[in-house]
Amino acid sequence: MINGLFTLRGAWDKLREDPVLKFFAAGVTFYGMATFEGPLLSIKSVSALAHYTDWIIGHVHSGALGWNGFMAAGMFYFLVPKLYGRKLYSPRLANMHFYVGTFGIILYMASMWVAGITQGLMWRATNADGSLTYESFVETLLALQPMYWTRLVGGTLYLVGMIVMLYNLLMTARGARATDGVVDVVVERDLVPAVPWRTIVLGKPVVLTLVVGVLVGATAVVNGYAGTLFALTAVTVATLGAVGASFAQEDGKTSWHRLLEGRALLFTALTAIAVLIGGICELIPVLTIKPAEVANASDIQPYRALEVEGRDVYLREGCYTCHSQMIRPMVHETKRYGDVSTMADSMYDHPFQWGSKRTGPDLSREGIRNPSVLWHYQHMRDPRAVSPGSNMPPYEHMATSRVDFADIPAKMRALRSVGVPYTAAQIHEAQADAQAQADGIVAELKAAGAGDAQPDTQLVALISYLMRLGKVGPAPKPAPAVAASKPEVAPVGAPHEGGH
Ligand code: HEC
Repeated sequence: MINGLFTLRGAWDKLREDPVLKFFAAGVTFYGMATFEGPLLSIKSVSALAHYTDWIIGHVHSGALGWNGFMAAGMFYFLVPKLYGRKLYSPRLANMHFYVGTFGIILYMASMWVAGITQGLMWRATNADGSLTYESFVETLLALQPMYWTRLVGGTLYLVGMIVMLYNLLMTARGARATDGVVDVVVERDLVPAVPWRTIVLGKPVVLTLVVGVLVGATAVVNGYAGTLFALTAVTVATLGAVGASFAQEDGKTSWHRLLEGRALLFTALTAIAVLIGGICELIPVLTIKPAEVANASDIQPYRALEVEGRDVYLREGCYTCHSQMIRPMVHETKRYGDVSTMADSMYDHPFQWGSKRTGPDLSREGIRNPSVLWHYQHMRDPRAVSPGSNMPPYEHMATSRVDFADIPAKMRALRSVGVPYTAAQIHEAQADAQAQADGIVAELKAAGAGDAQPDTQLVALISYLMRLGKVGPAPKPAPAVAASKPEVAPVGAPHEGGH
């Protein structure tokens, strides 16, 4: 960002007339803000507040709209007149686009920041006696409504700006023919001297980075006090090394960084390594720790046939865009949602449903928190009927849309191929088991007053999945009445008799 803004040094006056520069300068500034906010959000306590809230939405949109969108707009305003050998149809409209767009982004970001921090604080607010201040999730949602309207206005303004740009560019191109122009380009051949790539790879900055990297890595493996020592050494070496390197730089000699920038392939390779290090540090523990070792695997049963079907409904409808399945180890989360999530909770989930945004509450322990099938039956069809103020969409169609139990064995085989331990018998009996579980849920629904419930519907499958959430232990057996009427059906999910 600093490099970009300094490139404009001495040319700031051009910013007034040239819309292209306006977009670039604003784009680079938004880039700076977003990339400052990124590391800020990576601090544990900041993340604790911001994660799952609209703050993240504001953050990514400052990048997407402000940086990427504005840089793209600047490039369009630059390229289209060049390609058609014409002047831009209306610089005034382009300026208008700039101001409308910038105002739109600011409304968007500010509203999402306020919404995110509000929601984060409301989720964690507790009373003197330790109870949650805002026990109802809808209460936190309602507090955000004005912010959502502001976001809508901001986003619309941004879109209007883009439409104005489209008009402007079309008018520029209209009636014109693409030109084969000739442009003089100055190539400063001798600026970057040819050096062998080894010289660059073994350059002082790389060696320094490696040494500091090893010292930082050491803080992770040694115990407390030694870790502090290593961290201090790392900071000292990094600071002194950087200062030393800049003093050692001879006047007139091309700097290491400039040399590197001149070698596209090498630059890409080193950048890729730098980017991958973080990913590798996150990936290796996940790949080496076996969830089965963490949880006592013998107790964990994969989803029953109907639950597999219900989970597919959950995936297809995109419920994970509003609901997380990950309870973090914080008092206010466990108070609201139940026990902290463990690896065992999602060890048979392919793909996992941890989610990244909570527009609605976390569902990982829904089967324990909210075990009434009737409530879910009504809530899924018309959320506002049971949760006034909810913004969850109604899924009335699920009550009548059929599912084909004949598909389930193939799905279970697919899951088995990625490691879910279904037995041949379980797959063989999947259809009958799904029918039995669905009949059980319908019987319960009918007894509770939902006379129109149908067993082979998406809604009943989904409810079986929701009821299972949070119960990683042996799957519950079908209701006794149903098992008695269909004696040939084995309770597939629970081969360990007396395992409870
Ligand atoms: C637009 C966001 C949104 C989508 C999409 C969404 N929900 Fe919700 N959901 C909410 C909100 C907000 C609430 C809290 C208010 C309420 O109870 O309706 C909620 C509540 C719930 C609850 C009750 C949680 C509790 O308090 O115990 C369940 C269960 C649920 N949703 C399931 C689903 C399923 C299944 C889907 C997909 C078919 C889905 N939701 C899709 C927003 C959403």
